[in-house]
Amino acid sequence: MSQSPQQPRSAAAKPELIDSFGRTVRDLRISVTDRCNFRCTYCMPEEGMQWLPRTDVLTYEEIVRVARICVERFGVDGIRLTGGEPTVRAHLPVLIEKLAALTVPADADSPRAGRPIDLALTTNGATLALVAHDLKRAGLARINVSLDTLDREKFQRMTKRDELDSVLEGIAVAQEVGFAPVKVNAVVQRGVNDDEILALATFGRDNNIEVRFIEFMPLDAQGGWLNDSVVGQDEIVSTIHHTYPLEQLPSRGAAPADRWRYLDGRGTVGVIPTVTKPFCGDCDRVRLTADGQFRTCLFATDEFDVRALLRGGDRDDAGSEGATDDAIEALLRRAVGEKWAGHNIGQVSFVRPRRSMSQIGG
Ligand code: 5AD
Ligand code: SF4
Repeated sequence: MSQSPQQPRSAAAKPELIDSFGRTVRDLRISVTDRCNFRCTYCMPEEGMQWLPRTDVLTYEEIVRVARICVERFGVDGIRLTGGEPTVRAHLPVLIEKLAALTVPADADSPRAGRPIDLALTTNGATLALVAHDLKRAGLARINVSLDTLDREKFQRMTKRDELDSVLEGIAVAQEVGFAPVKVNAVVQRGVNDDEILALATFGRDNNIEVRFIEFMPLDAQGGWLNDSVVGQDEIVSTIHHTYPLEQLPSRGAAPADRWRYLDGRGTVGVIPTVTKPFCGDCDRVRLTADGQFRTCLFATDEFDVRALLRGGDRDDAGSEGATDDAIEALLRRAVGEKWAGHNIGQVSFVRPRRSMSQIGG
């Protein structure tokens, strides 16, 4: 662990990072801001969110540095940008351009070895019509848009914003500029939008979009989550299957969504069963929050302070800012070494994380 950042990695050390349960880290989710132009009730209170002071938020240079270490030294082959709402951060295409230039090491154990990373974005879609083109040009590969209802009034109740039309337009523009496939994420809450499962599935079939239904997770800022408000995967799938017969597709590997295809050939639909069928055993993800904290699970109660190293730490011999790449690598390895087996939602041992989704990054 004492090599300087200027020297190439030792040829013998394969770029990989495996936790104590044998899971290989391949996917990094980076929250670029905790701010958002919506106030989805399951995520934020309508007023009074305390945003991070700007100086606490990582600069693009700092984000790229952590990302580069993860790609070069661990063979991470996928990065997803999240928020808050990532598109509210100024000059997002500048970050995308830099991340899109990262290449998976040729000796990594990845189907993308020697090729650029898979770069994706999760957005609420409100400004997508305006920015989709620039995102595409900067090198973004994939987009997921969050959309929980097709009813304008319900949309306004759920997000506290009257923006359904801009989101729908954003989805259309994202498709026009060539994002394929565009996926839609829909969080299902009992008594709120569970009556729209079929309507959302129909929307996906009609528009060549893979809709992915997400079980409601205990990550809302207000602590209002109840087990009863979760609509489980089995119920979601049978609701759709009743009208549009489905056939399950083979195993998802490390991807969180289970997928089905419509037997009439009109595309696919997914369900992310975080609560009723946790997929922790296949999890390949780690996360970097907007304020530079490294987390090995959405529900982790521990964070590792990468920002402190980036901005302080033992300066390297070359005199560059902050700690060496080796020191940052060592912190990330230690965090992953301590990653737990799973989140235990629904069991007495479950402890809610201190931060909500918008502060962690979805
Ligand atoms: N449960 C499930 N999904 C959530 N999201 C935000 N909060 C929750 C929650 N409590 C989703 C958003 C978006 C993604 C970033 O996370 O709808 O699709
Ligand atoms: Fe914003 Fe996403 Fe939270 Fe909604 S769920 S308030 S769009 S960060």
